[in-house]
Amino acid sequence: MSKHTLTTATGSPVADDDNSISIGEHGALTFDNHYTFEKLAHFNRERIPERVVHARGTGAYGTFTVSDSLKDYTIASFLQEKGQKTDVFVRFSTVGGGQDSSDYARDPRGFSIKFYTDQGNYDMVGNNTPVFFLRDAIKFPDFIHSQKKNPRTNLPDPAAIYEFWANHPQSLHQVTILMSDRGIPASYRNMHGFGSHTFSFWNDKAERVWFKWHFKSNQGIKCLSNEEAAVASPSGAQQDLVEAIDRGDFPSWTAKVQIMTVEEARNYSINPFDLTKIWPHADFPLIEVGQLELNRNVDNYFAETEQACFAPSNLVPGIGVSPDKMLQGRLLAYQDAHRYRVGVNANQLPVNAARCPVHHYQKDGAMAGMCTAQGDTKIQGPGVNYYPNDQINQGAPVPQPSIEEPPLPVLENAWVKRYGISDDEDHYSQAGDLFRLMNESQKSQLATTIAEGLVNATESVQQRMLEQFRKADPDYADRIDSIMGTLGQKT
Ligand code: HEM
Repeated sequence: MSKHTLTTATGSPVADDDNSISIGEHGALTFDNHYTFEKLAHFNRERIPERVVHARGTGAYGTFTVSDSLKDYTIASFLQEKGQKTDVFVRFSTVGGGQDSSDYARDPRGFSIKFYTDQGNYDMVGNNTPVFFLRDAIKFPDFIHSQKKNPRTNLPDPAAIYEFWANHPQSLHQVTILMSDRGIPASYRNMHGFGSHTFSFWNDKAERVWFKWHFKSNQGIKCLSNEEAAVASPSGAQQDLVEAIDRGDFPSWTAKVQIMTVEEARNYSINPFDLTKIWPHADFPLIEVGQLELNRNVDNYFAETEQACFAPSNLVPGIGVSPDKMLQGRLLAYQDAHRYRVGVNANQLPVNAARCPVHHYQKDGAMAGMCTAQGDTKIQGPGVNYYPNDQINQGAPVPQPSIEEPPLPVLENAWVKRYGISDDEDHYSQAGDLFRLMNESQKSQLATTIAEGLVNATESVQQRMLEQFRKADPDYADRIDSIMGTLGQKT
């Protein structure tokens, strides 16, 4: 016998959860079926909009442990001392598929980390690739539309996918990674994570450096071939992660950073804020800074993983952004998405709530009044709701000027205008370098996967794509061209 009585949503005991009240055994239901109505009405409202991208994902809690202090570079409180531990929530995802798509699409994987620091939540919302397809946020909706389903057929549309890439040679580096043998991770445990963008650290002397995040899988890299992915269980990656954590086989990643000084950035041959390019490790070596471990599954997938809200604008003192035009756009997009998808007070939900005191003058809105993770109700409490005010001595919150980010110098003679991206720019060298690093079997797999998609595009798209591959490496183009020949090019 259970010790818990079944209740309504407002706590009243329920007598019967199997039978509605009806007029006679075979008759209509009566209006006093308020409990049946409550159940049906709540059921109608069980769904919230899925994420417009990265809809399918898996989350888990864990710990970040500092292995080498970064205090010379940043005042970020969670990176100060060797051995320091910070709780995290991590969500992995695919990008293009809906909530019920396969874990094994050839697609980048999202790699989001929420660090619950004592100075607020810091989110690293990255991918399993060090670069991205684009350099300017204005192109993101076009890109995603071209990669998701065709608006008429509701089917994947390889012709549209390649048409977008043919018109955007800046995508070539990421296309080469995506179509390579690393394009379908065998599990979330067997892939690296990257912040991808350039971010900034600043220290207690107000000195700034640029940096990039790298999280290297301690489980090693494992990937699936197209054939293996086609027969893999659609939930395989979710199952792999949940079961590994449940059996105590906690996955971990070694966190590293690359650092570039402001002076080096001014003189470096590559634009350090271009998201389509890596910083070569030979010039900017990886510095080990910590260990990320996942060690606890969620209790409820919807409440925690589905309602988790990661935002690149969730920053803490000592960590800032950079002039990367993609990152700048993302500073707006995520919290806007959260207000629509979860609600204006999404940050009061336990998975999103800071684990440090939260005091601000933002009030009301749908579902206001939930506690922070600390049970701190001051954010919707009886206190004053405007600033400045005369109640500072009674504990009303005040800004802290000492954590102000150092000013960022703008180049002399910088003109405010749109700066286009030319096809003649070097979108090709790093893609070519990656191709040349591959062994024979990797090159052949890459060329086959591309040819099998590109063959569905128009001849004009095929020609423009081949031109891009040729600029990266003639052998890259020749291989694809010759495989397309055997598949019979559709024109
Ligand atoms: C300007 C370009 C971009 C825009 C406008 C954009 C927009 C979005 C939006 C609206 C979401 C859904 C957020 C939500 O509903 O919670 C999302 C999710 C995500 N995006 Fe982006 N995105 C961009 C570029 C990128 C890049 C470059 C990366 C990686 C380097 C990235 C990684 C992710 C990840 C990992 C998620 C899933 C977060 C989670 O696990 O909840 N996005 N993006």
